Amino acid sequence: MHDPHRVIQHDWIDAISNIDDASIDLIYVDPPFNTGKTQSAIAGEYDDAWATTEEWLGWFRSRLERTLPKLKPTASLLIHTDWRTTHHVRLLLDELLGEDRFVNHLIWKYGLGGSSPRRFARKHDDILFYCIDPDTYHFEAPMVPATSNRMKGQVKKATDVLDIPTLNNMASERVGYPTQKPLALLQLLIGACCPPGGTVLDPCCGSGTTLVAAKNLNRHAIGFDQNPDACEITMDRLKKTPAPHDA
Ligand SMILES: C[S@@+](CC[C@H](N)C(=O)[O-])C[C@H]1O[C@@H](n2cnc3c(N)ncnc32)[C@H](O)[C@@H]1O
Repeated sequence: MHDPHRVIQHDWIDAISNIDDASIDLIYVDPPFNTGKTQSAIAGEYDDAWATTEEWLGWFRSRLERTLPKLKPTASLLIHTDWRTTHHVRLLLDELLGEDRFVNHLIWKYGLGGSSPRRFARKHDDILFYCIDPDTYHFEAPMVPATSNRMKGQVKKATDVLDIPTLNNMASERVGYPTQKPLALLQLLIGACCPPGGTVLDPCCGSGTTLVAAKNLNRHAIGFDQNPDACEITMDRLKKTPAPHDA
């Protein structure tokens, strides 16, 4: 039997050929955003520069196309990018899956980071949510704290704007890998879009936030990353994460 939380050190395009067809319940991808620079932090770095947006999109398309057959008919996709490429990715998904497979354009709203005197400060990422079959995809609306005075102290269904803080420098979950995403974000997404006991694939897993979130929620997970540092950090985080029934 496979380890329920597998980390594979390879390029996404190679690793995907070893995954069984129709075996994945949710794919979450947080790829390099094409920022034009090397992303670097204390525990690792990765290249994030393509000559043009078209080249980035070609890189992404070739990998996504090979991944679609791996998804179950009930599966969903969450593609996490930002203002640089989200509009291209949306058109790509419309082409590959069909416009009627679009479910949500989620905004992950955060506060940290700089601003510019020349424009409104850019304070969100974009997460495109598509499904394979609009009638059968899994969705369990996450509940979040209500903010209105009338509902103070109660919870309500999350909207398509997710207000979750980015990791600050003092955050205990920070592992020093560049562009590490918060566990709270991944737990909300996986809890909503992957059935209990299902399998999440993250083909650019970085520090392994998706795999740790999946383990916390009793979901299986497979992570790929071509960077050995990323895979080592992911395995280490998984080792330190007790299975929910051991906790
Ligand atoms: C935005 S980071 C992921 C961060 C991750 N979500 C986290 O919370 O730590 C993107 C990752 O994609 C990896 N990557 C880039 N090109 C790749 C490829 N062709 N195949 C697999 N991984 C790749 C990089 O090494 C990097 O770790």
